[in-house]
Amino acid sequence: MSIISGKKILIGVTAGIAAYKTAFLVRLLVKAGAEVKVVMTPAAKDFITPLTLSTLSKNEVFSSFTKEEDENQQWNNHVELGLWADLMLIAPATANSLSKMASGNSDNFLLATYLSAKCPVYFAPAMDLDMYQHPSTKDSFQKLISYGNIMIPAGTGELASGLSGEGRMAEPEEILKFIENHISESLPLRNKKILITAGPTYEAIDPVRFIGNHSSGKMGYELAKAAAIMGAEVVLISGPTHLTDPGFGIEVIRVKSAQEMYDAAHEHFEKMDAAIASAAVSDYRPKNVATQKIKKNSENLILELQKNPDILASLGERKKEQILIGFALETENEEENALGKLKRKKLDFIVLNSLKDEGAGFQKETNKISILFKGGEKKDFALKPKKQVANDIIKELIGLFHA
Ligand code: CTP
Repeated sequence: MSIISGKKILIGVTAGIAAYKTAFLVRLLVKAGAEVKVVMTPAAKDFITPLTLSTLSKNEVFSSFTKEEDENQQWNNHVELGLWADLMLIAPATANSLSKMASGNSDNFLLATYLSAKCPVYFAPAMDLDMYQHPSTKDSFQKLISYGNIMIPAGTGELASGLSGEGRMAEPEEILKFIENHISESLPLRNKKILITAGPTYEAIDPVRFIGNHSSGKMGYELAKAAAIMGAEVVLISGPTHLTDPGFGIEVIRVKSAQEMYDAAHEHFEKMDAAIASAAVSDYRPKNVATQKIKKNSENLILELQKNPDILASLGERKKEQILIGFALETENEEENALGKLKRKKLDFIVLNSLKDEGAGFQKETNKISILFKGGEKKDFALKPKKQVANDIIKELIGLFHA
């Protein structure tokens, strides 16, 4: 899945022959999962029609401050559009528009939208080689870069004028790759490897029965996604769940029992920068697993159980530089019990959810947590969807990496 999936991308099209490539670019971005809107300068319409771009982007295309065909003269709101975008991309960016952007000129809707945008702005210049080399064009590039805009350099090759040289707009595939790389390089968990355990474990009684629990695995899967979105390389060790693989390049290792989860966690832990144990591991397993299905021959059946290894505590024993995060699900003496686990398992912080909190815990879409840090600090969070809870936890982890 592309890192731009789900992002709102505003494409600005200025009047250059490379505008024909913008059709392919829009299609690529939409295929990569982005929501795309297009804004054009009036002159850009001589090179490509708004109909082509609105069909490909599946959105209305904007090019003037008013809706021309509307008698009520409704405004197109450049401020709203600029703020809507997660990312703006001017492609093609002509020498004329770049110079206006650099000087703050806003005499068309695209320029006014550019000035209103607070998001990162990328620009892909396209012009003839002498225009590209001109000191005033270079000045525009430098000024825009100094404002924080990101330049996607033009390529070298045959130009529309028939000349050959630097000035060809980067190809749509190159623009997409450039943006993907640029975003991932600036992500706070880039180059970090994170191991996450999730879901329940099933402890076999016989070939058809097991001891398990109601954990859905949702919290762990959301954590894996939140970490991957922030640039981490994630290994998700999942007990049996109904959830499909979360995507985002996350490596999923499916296990059943606590022992299998333990083995998988230890196999990967050494290479990791952090581990988050969100799995609801069975504390005990049947001492002997029947090789055949147990028959109901007697009134009572006694199963002897033996303790499972504590995965998180064993990682705590092995840890060197790794950050370790655990969960505690408590029904009484919540804080005291959670603090006990924090110390015993050598954690950096523990996420406490109390079953007393309505809406928190197993099989729920929401969770209400407190985070207790090893230094003694405590943070309480409101009841939120698990996705947002995951973001909160990952944010705290990022804080520790950058501390
Ligand atoms: N955990 C683990 N391996 C186990 C048991 C627990 O990795 N065998 C991890 C859980 O993933 C969680 C934390 O330890 O992050 C706390 O789990 P919990 O079951 O609340 O604590 P226990 O140590 O098992 O204590 P108790 O069941 O007595 O409350």
